[in-house]
Amino acid sequence: MKLLITGSNGFVAGSILAQAGVQWEVHGAGRTEGPNNSRPVHYHPIDLLDLEKLSLLMHSVRPDAVIHTAAIANIDFCENHPAIAEAMNIGVTERLARLCRETGAKLVFCSTDSVIDGKKGHYTESDLPVPINVYARTKVKAEQTVLAASAKNVVARLSLVMGLPVMGKGNSFLAETLEKLKRGETVKFPENEIRTPVDVITLGAALNELAENAFGGIIHLSGNTRINRYGMGRQIAEATGFSPDLILPVNSNSLPGRAPRPDDASLDNSRARQILNTPMRSLSEGLVLTLSRTG
Ligand SMILES: NC(=O)c1ccc[n+]([C@@H]2O[C@H](COP(=O)([O-])OP(=O)(O)OC[C@H]3O[C@@H](n4cnc5c(N)ncnc54)[C@H](OP(=O)(O)O)[C@@H]3O)[C@@H](O)[C@H]2O)c1
Repeated sequence: MKLLITGSNGFVAGSILAQAGVQWEVHGAGRTEGPNNSRPVHYHPIDLLDLEKLSLLMHSVRPDAVIHTAAIANIDFCENHPAIAEAMNIGVTERLARLCRETGAKLVFCSTDSVIDGKKGHYTESDLPVPINVYARTKVKAEQTVLAASAKNVVARLSLVMGLPVMGKGNSFLAETLEKLKRGETVKFPENEIRTPVDVITLGAALNELAENAFGGIIHLSGNTRINRYGMGRQIAEATGFSPDLILPVNSNSLPGRAPRPDDASLDNSRARQILNTPMRSLSEGLVLTLSRTG
């Protein structure tokens, strides 16, 4: 059985790659080759915006499942470059969904908690998305394409991802925070943003499970703790032996030049807890797991 992971040098992809089961022949599609640690990976360097190359890749590998992590995930970049965001987040996903249908592969798409407006909180999978920025609009359109392409496809809505890179690099706010704290610098965290952070190790295991099991549809992959990001920052500082006073509150929606963010994007993870063998974890459990993997 073959598993293809797009965006293979990214933060979430590194955890999926590292934890992929031995039954899979694992393939990675990223702009460059990534590392081979304990888990050997067949890398296919590709710019996914080259849709003809993507088509050739899918037809030559013929994966049984694809986990699509690749995206432009920088919310402010998307706001300022909507055409690039649409080409990558919608265009590539549309083509991939079509290719998966042609080749019979199951597609697991990484969406986001940002698809909602954040006015309510405790969102379930049946709440309708109300996007408030370009990034979210591209993800909502991509979700619709993925779900329409096949009933076996999965839209996994990820909460804020907390953790350290497992393989490769990518966009880890925890790594950046720890670097600043080590230098004795203060770090600002938005107090207005309520989230249900999920640790990257639990997330990688859950996405692997979804590539293999029979579930199709929308599922929230989020942690069990509902907390504002400032509170989360203080908890991280405490857990890593730094003073929580180095964490400062900020309102992300009062900073000039930034795309709007949903205030309360907390996700209800009942479905994940019911369907998956992977246990969803609290923030403190996720931190323990994360820190136990560091040398
Ligand atoms: N991290 C979070 O808190 C979070 C929360 C909710 C949802 N998500 C979603 O989860 C997914 C993974 O996020 P992440 O944090 O792992 O992001 P990430 O570290 O930025 O990884 C995204 C990967 O996509 C690759 N990529 C972008 N454009 C590409 C292109 N044209 N061709 C080939 N590769 C391309 C990037 O490659 P380069 O390294 O070469 O740029 C990067 O390795 C994304 O879909 C994101 O929207 C993330």
